[in-house]
Amino acid sequence: MDDLIANLSGESDQEEAASTGASSFLAGIHTENLIRREMEFIDPEKQWMRQQWLKAGEALYTKLNRPLRYLTLPAYYRFDVTMMLKRGILGVVEKDGREVLSVAAFEADPGKYALMTGATPDFELFGNGTLENAMVDPRSPHFADLLAMFPFDIVNFDLTTSLTPQHEGPFSRTMQAIEEVMRRQAPHTEEWAFFLTFRNVEKEWEPTALKQFIDNLQANIDTWPAVRDKFVQTLNVSTAQELKDKDSAIAIIQSVGKWLVDRAHFYGHSCPSIESFYYTRYPEGLEEYKISKLLMTFKRGPRTASVVPMKTTVPETWMETDLVNCIARNKHKDVEYILLSGTKLDEVNAQIAELKADFETTYTRTQPAAPTTPAPILAVKETP
Ligand SMILES: C[S@@+](CC[C@H](N)C(=O)[O-])C[C@H]1O[C@@H](n2cnc3c(N)ncnc32)[C@H](O)[C@@H]1O
Repeated sequence: MDDLIANLSGESDQEEAASTGASSFLAGIHTENLIRREMEFIDPEKQWMRQQWLKAGEALYTKLNRPLRYLTLPAYYRFDVTMMLKRGILGVVEKDGREVLSVAAFEADPGKYALMTGATPDFELFGNGTLENAMVDPRSPHFADLLAMFPFDIVNFDLTTSLTPQHEGPFSRTMQAIEEVMRRQAPHTEEWAFFLTFRNVEKEWEPTALKQFIDNLQANIDTWPAVRDKFVQTLNVSTAQELKDKDSAIAIIQSVGKWLVDRAHFYGHSCPSIESFYYTRYPEGLEEYKISKLLMTFKRGPRTASVVPMKTTVPETWMETDLVNCIARNKHKDVEYILLSGTKLDEVNAQIAELKADFETTYTRTQPAAPTTPAPILAVKETP
């Protein structure tokens, strides 16, 4: 069991490093070391989560009846992109006379970014820098290009940090970027998906932000009787504070889910689906911590004709349904438990090996970016 847990948690060192300064972690380290460390990102829990992303992506592809546009942090092995590419659900566009994937991707670490530019197929946009800067800072060299690519069908904030680090104000850079995603996705006329990964550690939160999140959850319980009933029935506590005292990770995932639903409502979108998962990391010599994952979809909701909107969000009947579902379906399931309680561990390990082998055969590390005439991208399905 210890070996298994160690295997499941190989990623923790890198997450720890990313949370304390991603660029210093990788900058200047030897290529082989970098690639060896990158292996730590491709452990079974993460692969199982990628399967869930893929399922959500395939469901969206079927609903939308067309290839998808994807915003992600792919990391060196870009497994999330490859899985979607192999299933033929990603779009392809022409850029500078070449076929590229309808993907906007970012990598904060310059050393890793340099190595990643050798991978094919190319992305429509691949930026070196943080996704947050590209979203919220007009001085970022990628700001305009990223803005022009919105709206996306899937936005994947696969972060390695907490949502509101202590050293930032309550409305952290990441939260601002998420708010900006909601604003830019508002014109989307079809369903779209948002995946969010973050370190779920109470003491890393900016205290004012956490208080606001918990208060917001409580206001929800106080305002909507159906929400209150579902809260009590599902979580076996009667207030948000009680939930935080009992299990802060659950209180955080509930209040983050609720905040996202609120922001979507503000921009006129409903939340047809929400799911959540977590796995625990056991870094050597450091305190264990949880990585939480939210998978949500949003879709523009009908507007009432009976109220003219002023400053606040006009309540719609579907909003109450969303808020009830947001509590009931945000189950924060334990991925380690799922993997250990069935035959899925072998399956995900086999997938990792296959994806890695695929990657090695299609990627030449020493080659500079932009080969002269890349082969056409073939793994794209016909529209169903
Ligand atoms: C968790 S890994 C992504 C794994 C990938 N999505 C997959 O499925 O294999 C996150 C990657 O993004 C980089 N990164 C982390 N936070 C970032 C941010 N805020 N902006 C840009 N890159 C970031 C990390 O250096 C790492 O390479």
